[in-house]
Amino acid sequence: MRNLISLSDLSDDALRALVADSLDHAAGSRAPSLEGRIVGTYFRKTSTRTRTAFTAGALRLGARVIAYGPEDMQLVTGETSRDTGRVLSGMIDALVARTSGSTEELLDFAHQGRMPVINAMSAQEHPTQALADLTTLHERFGHIERLRVLYVGEGNNTATAFALAMSRYRGAHVEFRTPPGYGLPAGYLRAAAGNAARSGATVVERHDMDGLPEGFDAVYTTRWQTTGTSKPDPGWRSVFAPFQVTGALWETSPKAVFLHDLPAHRGEEVTADVLDGSASLAFRQAEHKMHSAMAVLRWCLG
Ligand code: CP
Repeated sequence: MRNLISLSDLSDDALRALVADSLDHAAGSRAPSLEGRIVGTYFRKTSTRTRTAFTAGALRLGARVIAYGPEDMQLVTGETSRDTGRVLSGMIDALVARTSGSTEELLDFAHQGRMPVINAMSAQEHPTQALADLTTLHERFGHIERLRVLYVGEGNNTATAFALAMSRYRGAHVEFRTPPGYGLPAGYLRAAAGNAARSGATVVERHDMDGLPEGFDAVYTTRWQTTGTSKPDPGWRSVFAPFQVTGALWETSPKAVFLHDLPAHRGEEVTADVLDGSASLAFRQAEHKMHSAMAVLRWCLG
C-alpha cells in the first residue's frame, strides 16, 4: 500500500520511475491499466490543474471517479479524518485530497492502511506539482542531473516539494531567492540539504536578488498569493516587488527556460512577456500535471 503524501515517501528509484512513467504518459505510450478501480477526489480548496489532472488522468486510465467538494462530506459536521478514511477505504481504491491546511489531515486519512492517499497540495507541500516540474525539465533537457535552476518567490508548498525533489539529482543546483520573511521552512531546507549531501546536489537560499550567478538552465516562479493563504502583513507587496521575474533575468541566463506552476498573475510575480514568451514552458508544465497524476495513480494502485 503506497501513499504519496510527501516527496520523502519516495525512494530515489521511485522518484525516477515516476518521472519516466510521466514521460511515457506524455508520449501516449501507456495503455489504460486501472479499469474497475474507483478514485475519490476531495478538494477543500480551489484547483483547476491538479483536480482536472487527477480526474482526467484517472478516467484516461480506465478508472471511475467520485468527486467530493469542500462541503460534501460529514467532516464539516465533525466526523474525524481517521473515521472518514476508514469508511472510504472500504468503498474506493484511492483518495486524492487537497486539504484545508496541514498534511496531518492526510496522514489521518491514510491511518486506515489499505487505501492509498495522494496529497494534491497541503499547506506544507505540493508533491505532485514537483513531479510535473521534473517531467517538464526532463522532457526539455533529457536529464535532471546537473541542471541549474533559479527559483524566485515565496518558499511555499511548491518550493518545498521542488527542493525535496531536485536535491535528489547529482550535480543539480537550486538557488532559492525568497522575499525576507517568506522563505522555505527550516525543516524542509534541512531535509533538502540532507538529500543534496547524499546526491551531490546543492540547494541554497538567499533573501535578495543581488549577485545572481549566470547561466541558469531554468527560472521558476510561483504566484505571490499561494492558493488558500493570505498574508497578514499589509506591506507584503513591497517586500515581494524586487522578486518579480522580468526579461532582465535572461541577460545573464539567455538559454534558460521559464517555469511557473500556475495560476499566474501577469504583472505581479512575472511580466507577461516572460510568461507568454518563447522561453516559457509553463503551459506544457500544466499538461504534465496530468501525465504525472497518471503515473502517481498507477504507482499507488499498481
Ligand atoms: N499548480 C496547481 O496546483 O494548480 P491548481 O491550484 O489549479 O491545482
